Amino acid sequence: MQGSFITLEGIEGAGKSTCMAEVRQVLETAGKAILETREPGGTPLGEDLRQLLLGHRHTGMHEDTELLLMFAARAEHLQQKILPALRSGKWVLCDRFTDASYAYQGGGRGMDTRRIAELETWVQGDVRPHLTLLMDLPVEQGLERAGRRSSPDRFESEALEFFERVRQAYLEIARQDPGRVKIIDASRPLQEVRARIRAVMESFLEQQDND
Ligand code: TMP
Repeated sequence: MQGSFITLEGIEGAGKSTCMAEVRQVLETAGKAILETREPGGTPLGEDLRQLLLGHRHTGMHEDTELLLMFAARAEHLQQKILPALRSGKWVLCDRFTDASYAYQGGGRGMDTRRIAELETWVQGDVRPHLTLLMDLPVEQGLERAGRRSSPDRFESEALEFFERVRQAYLEIARQDPGRVKIIDASRPLQEVRARIRAVMESFLEQQDND
């Protein structure tokens, strides 16, 4: 039996950790075995690449390099961790995946999305998430929340307009693929956000059971 592949997306401060905890709880209650992981990262090599990508040592990194490193980390993650887990029947819960490349490198940096699509096909073949929860909220609100945390990483140091483009790119992905991408209004009070996540997960589980 194959497990399901669920990804969480959103701009900084959108509450992905809250979302992760809620999704995990629903799946545990349903008796699913879970692998929780993240991108960039998820493997020893991927976590090293994460440090290079998020740290400030290579601030002027070329956008092509950035995109290729994201996909290098993803190739390692997919082959060494995600695919073996799915094949063993585990449900994979991943904090960011390729939608983040479309949103940050495509939307934020303005890169040609055909390039991203080529890498997606090369690295993933036909592997795509089965469900994506997009935590959406106004950029100002997200950055205000994220700003309360520790010192900003290389992405968090970008301007407001960058995150506005990232948000719009995410919303466009959701418009194009409404069956897979479910928008969660993360600007709502916490209890409401949690309830909406639970509702989305319960309906996904029901759908899986009927398939
Ligand atoms: P976070 O997952 O802790 O929020 O940080 C990861 C950062 O990396 C975040 O700012 C988004 C960025 N990112 C990309 O730009 N492209 C990608 O493909 C991925 C996975 C993440």
